[in-house]
Amino acid sequence: MSERVLVIIPTYNELENLERVLERLHASVPEAHALVVDDGSPDGTGQLADELAAADPRVHVLHRTAKAGLGRAYVAGFRWARQRGYDVLVEMDADGSHAPEQLPDLLAALADADLVLGSRYVDGGRVEDWPVHRLLLSRMGNRYTRWVLRLPLQDATGGFRAARAELIDSLPFDEVASAGYCFQVDWAWRALRSGARITEVPITFTEREFGRSKMSGSIVREAWARVTVWGVQDRLADWLPGRVAPPAPGAAGNSGR
Ligand code: GDD
Ligand code: MN
Repeated sequence: MSERVLVIIPTYNELENLERVLERLHASVPEAHALVVDDGSPDGTGQLADELAAADPRVHVLHRTAKAGLGRAYVAGFRWARQRGYDVLVEMDADGSHAPEQLPDLLAALADADLVLGSRYVDGGRVEDWPVHRLLLSRMGNRYTRWVLRLPLQDATGGFRAARAELIDSLPFDEVASAGYCFQVDWAWRALRSGARITEVPITFTEREFGRSKMSGSIVREAWARVTVWGVQDRLADWLPGRVAPPAPGAAGNSGR
């Protein structure tokens, strides 16, 4: 592939995971570059990232001062990537839950799409070793999102994605207020409504072996509240046609899967 691929990996306390995930990434897609976006991890993940970057020109690091949420880390990573002219931007967790061995599937699907979502909930997708409460939260969150936002996606909350740079350039990330994991829903929805071609490809999500999830009550509450507000605004736009209604999904040639 002649396109320049950047895999953005947000980290907060991923010391035991980072080196391994980068090794797996480069075994799977040797030409890909990686950007570690570290929010000042107290466990020294940022320092390790610097050492790995010094040893491998494909590895880059963006240091941020404090833990400010997954969404903000990605927005900073997208900006960094576009300033350097990467053509394809990938989102991937640092903890091994997203298998770098499946990244070629996502990149291949990008041939006919602007955004490819690694999906746990399409045929062939799987979740391994998640406690039942996490699985329920994720399934209910996706069901709620599909209903409230009328979003024709099976896994809008996932964080293993590949996007064309042109799509990233066309979306107003400066306006994106989502700090936590609802960032994923936020920009999938914006992409869909902008007419982007979105494809879901099956992935196997495997629970991390080392370290801890950063999922928290406040992240869940933010997601719940924002999705509800967006849904209400969307319905109001139906009822108040004089107001600027956003284009319906599919209006600009969306493949609609
Ligand atoms: N820089 C930065 N700042 N990184 C963060 C932050 C933050 O505030 N919060 C989390 N991360 C990093 C973690 O270090 C990890 O690499 C990745 O983001 C995902 O965080 P996890 O804490 O491992 O998430 P999870 O496994 O509970 O949640 C998974 O499922 C969610 C819902 O489906 C992830 O795949 C999420 O991306 C997904 O939205
Ligand atoms: Mn995880």
